[in-house]
Amino acid sequence: MLIQSHIKVLKLFYAVLFITAINTGGYSQQITKQPGLKDYYANYFPIGVAVSPQALKSPEQANLIIKHFNSITPENAMKMGPIHPVEDRFYWNDADMIVSFAQSNGLKIRGHALCWHEQTPSWLFIGVDGKQVSKTVLLQRLKTHIDSVVGRYKGKVYAWDVVNEAIDDDSTKFLRNSLWYQICGEDFIVKAFEYAHAADPNAVLFYNDYNTERSEKRERVYQLLKKLLAKKVPVHAVGLQAHWSVFEPSQKELSATIEKFASLGIRMQITELDVSVYPWEKQNRALRPGESDVFTDDMADKQARQYKMIFDQFRQYKNVITGVTFWNISDRHTWLDNYPVKGRKNYPLLFDTQLQPKKAFWEVVNFK
Ligand code: GLA
Repeated sequence: MLIQSHIKVLKLFYAVLFITAINTGGYSQQITKQPGLKDYYANYFPIGVAVSPQALKSPEQANLIIKHFNSITPENAMKMGPIHPVEDRFYWNDADMIVSFAQSNGLKIRGHALCWHEQTPSWLFIGVDGKQVSKTVLLQRLKTHIDSVVGRYKGKVYAWDVVNEAIDDDSTKFLRNSLWYQICGEDFIVKAFEYAHAADPNAVLFYNDYNTERSEKRERVYQLLKKLLAKKVPVHAVGLQAHWSVFEPSQKELSATIEKFASLGIRMQITELDVSVYPWEKQNRALRPGESDVFTDDMADKQARQYKMIFDQFRQYKNVITGVTFWNISDRHTWLDNYPVKGRKNYPLLFDTQLQPKKAFWEVVNFK
């Protein structure tokens, strides 16, 4: 009798649980939930994505982010120009919104970027007299900037791209002849890392650059890092931007790069991944007559093969790679649309313009 009534109580308990689960959506979510990109890589590294505040306002893009990614980078919102447009004024809204989206959805946050030669506000380099500022003034301004931005997001942003793209494009030169370099020499790099480390001693600090798989560029980035490490500058990691294409890098170039930087004993992340369907170019130009921007089956196949090779390598080097971030969410919008070829669409990501997984997506997740 006692046992029977116990069973009845138990049945009732499970029935209530079942109904509650259905009502709250918990039960249906549990049975229909397909793994997202981040789930396939749970034993490897976080999978991140660079976003704009606009994308987060679109529920379908926000849902796609939450399903597939567990790390986020503000695409532009934390860059010097957008966040610190005037000397005494910071514009926090966009960055704050991205940070609060990440926090409420349990995503890690990578900060990007504290010191770069592009998207820098013009006030930075000019004094009240209208002339170029001295090294002392420029470094003081850099310090104020870094203290304010890193300080605001301390404990929320776990990693920062501190210096971005300091190496010249010309393989016969070393550091880029930017205003930073012209005014401060190499010291701007050292100081940027020191200021960032002082502002948040727990943040992982990155030197970030592109074309690091090309041997001549790789060598120069390596030399810079080696020098900084020898001087005990607090640089903790290297970011390989990974703005790649179906034409490069090769598997050999990629593994040589990862091994070379790993030999420095520092951490490494893939920070801005996309695989363009066109060859790499930097100079702006117009679309040539007869040049098409249709995403063909052949391009989709080549891209799927390239993504497969890339992620095979990433998994192989999971002990040194601590994160992989895509630069934009889907082919609906990518910085490579119109860049550097005006009027040309690109298709460099794993999700198509309808936010559906592409062939390349399946090559990335179907591994043993
Ligand atoms: C560089 C920068 C990024 C971004 C891309 C283009 O890689 O590091 O912030 O501007 O160019 O979107």
